[in-house]
Amino acid sequence: MHRRMIAPGALAAATLLLAIPASAASHSPGAPGIGDPYYPYYGNGGYDVSHYDLRLKYQPATDELEGTATIEARTTQDLSSFDLDFLLDVSEVRVNGATAAYASSGQHELVITPKKPLAKDTPITVVVRYSGVPSTKSAYGFTTWHRTPDGGIAADEPEAAWWWFPSNDHPGDKATYDVSVAVPDGTQAISNGTLQSTGSQLGWTRYNWRQNKPQATYLATLAIGKFDITTGTSEGGVPVLNAYSRDLGDNAGAARASVERTGEIVDWLSGFFGPYPFGSAGGYVPNTTTGYALETQTRVYYSPKQFAGGSNTSVVVHELAHQWYGDSVSLKGWKDIWINEGFARYAQWLWSEHEGEGTAQELADWVYASHPAGDPFWTVAPGDPGPDDQFDIAVYDRGALAVQALRNEIGDKAFFALLKGWPQKHAYGNASVADFRKYAEQVSGKPLAALFDTWLFQPVKPAAPAARAASLTKASAPTAPPRSWKKIEATNDVHTR
Ligand code: TRP
Ligand code: ZN
Repeated sequence: MHRRMIAPGALAAATLLLAIPASAASHSPGAPGIGDPYYPYYGNGGYDVSHYDLRLKYQPATDELEGTATIEARTTQDLSSFDLDFLLDVSEVRVNGATAAYASSGQHELVITPKKPLAKDTPITVVVRYSGVPSTKSAYGFTTWHRTPDGGIAADEPEAAWWWFPSNDHPGDKATYDVSVAVPDGTQAISNGTLQSTGSQLGWTRYNWRQNKPQATYLATLAIGKFDITTGTSEGGVPVLNAYSRDLGDNAGAARASVERTGEIVDWLSGFFGPYPFGSAGGYVPNTTTGYALETQTRVYYSPKQFAGGSNTSVVVHELAHQWYGDSVSLKGWKDIWINEGFARYAQWLWSEHEGEGTAQELADWVYASHPAGDPFWTVAPGDPGPDDQFDIAVYDRGALAVQALRNEIGDKAFFALLKGWPQKHAYGNASVADFRKYAEQVSGKPLAALFDTWLFQPVKPAAPAARAASLTKASAPTAPPRSWKKIEATNDVHTR
C-alpha cells in the first residue's frame, strides 16, 4: 500500500489518478448500522467481532469507569474506516498496533480511521482506551446505566453496551468475552459466565469473568456493588453462581427463595429445551429501584421489585428459558422478538402446570378470553411488532398464545420435538421467525403459513379454535390485566401469584 512518489511539477490529472493505489480506491467506510430496520444505527457494517477483552476499573463513590477494550474482529469488506457504538470518553485507539484517528458522530458512533486501509477478510485487533461517568452519558435522550447506592449496573435491552464498552452493538454480531473489573476491596463486580479468578492489590480487588460461548452485546452485563455470592451445582451438573445485594431490605428473603431455585429450574427446563447451553447459570439481584428482569447470558438480572410480592419462581423460569430462546439462539433482527418472549412466556405456563397452578391450555384460554375483540392488545403483531411495541404485553401473551395454537395444530409429539430441536439447530447462532416457521413445518410435516399469519401477524383477534371454543365461554374467566401494565414493568411477572 505504498503511495507512489510524484515528481514535482508532474501533477497532471492523469498522473494523480495513477498515483492512487488501486486497492485504496475500493476501500470505503463501514456502515454506521448493521442493517436492522427497527434501529438503523445499532451495530455497524464492515467487520465481525469474535472476542471482547475488557479490562476495567470502577469507583463506586464517583461512578467513574475507566479501562481498555481489546476487540478481536475480522473485516468483511475493504475498509477505509469503521464504527463502534460507544458513549464514554476515548483517549486512544489502536488498530493492529498503530494509533488510529477517531471521532464521535451521531448519537453513539465512534468512527475509527486506521492509518492504513484494511483489506477484506483479514483479522484486526482494535484497542480502545477510555474513561467516563456512565450515568452522565445519554443517547436519544436516555441512559440505561443504573446507578445504585453502592455502585452501578449495565443491564438493558435492546441497548446497554454503549455505557460501558465499545462494540458492534447488535445481536447479529455475537462474540466471546473476558471481563476483568477492579473495584475497591470489599466491593464485588459481577458479570457473565464463570469467575476465573480474583485477586487484590493496592486496595483494589479484581474480578476476572469469562463467557466462552458467543454472546450478544445486550446480554453482556456488569454489576458493581456489595453482594453476597452463593455457588453450587445443579443436580444435572450445571455450575450455579448467584449474587444478592446486601441492601435488599425485606425483599431479601423472597429474592433468595426464588433465585436459589435456579439449578432446579435449569434442570427442569432442560427436559423441554435440551441440555443447558452454557457452562454456568445464575442471577443477581442488585439494589435498584427499577422494576424488571433481563436474561443477561448465564447471569440473569433481577430487580428486587420482582420479589416485592413474595417469592417469584415464574420470573426465574422466564429468564432462564431465554438462555435457550434468545441467548444461545439469538434473534436475527429485533423484529424477531417473538422467538424470545413468546417462548419465555410459554415456559412460565409450563411451569404453572408443573406447580399445579393451571395448565398451559387453561392459561391460553384465560389470556384469550381476557382480551375482547376490540382490545388494542390484538392490534400488536407479535411476529413484527415494530420498535415502539417491541416489548408490549402482546408480544409476550399473544406470543405465547401463538405457541399454544401451534401445539394444538401439530400435536404434542411434534411440538415437544420442535421445542427441543430448535435450540440444537441454531445453538449459539441467530434465527428469524421465518426460520422458525420453516423448521416447524419440517418437524411437523404440516404447512403452517396460515397459522403463523393468524396468530403472529394479523392485527385482529383470531377466531377461537373450534376444539377450544367450549372452554372460552366460561363466565368466570378473570379480566385482563389493566392496559397500563403494558410496558416492561409488568411483562415478566404476570401469572405469578
Ligand atoms: N427481555 C426482558 C424480559 O422479558 C424484558 C425487557 C424488555 C427489559 N426491555 C427491557 C428488561 C429493558 C430490561 C430493560 O425478561
Ligand atoms: Zn423475556
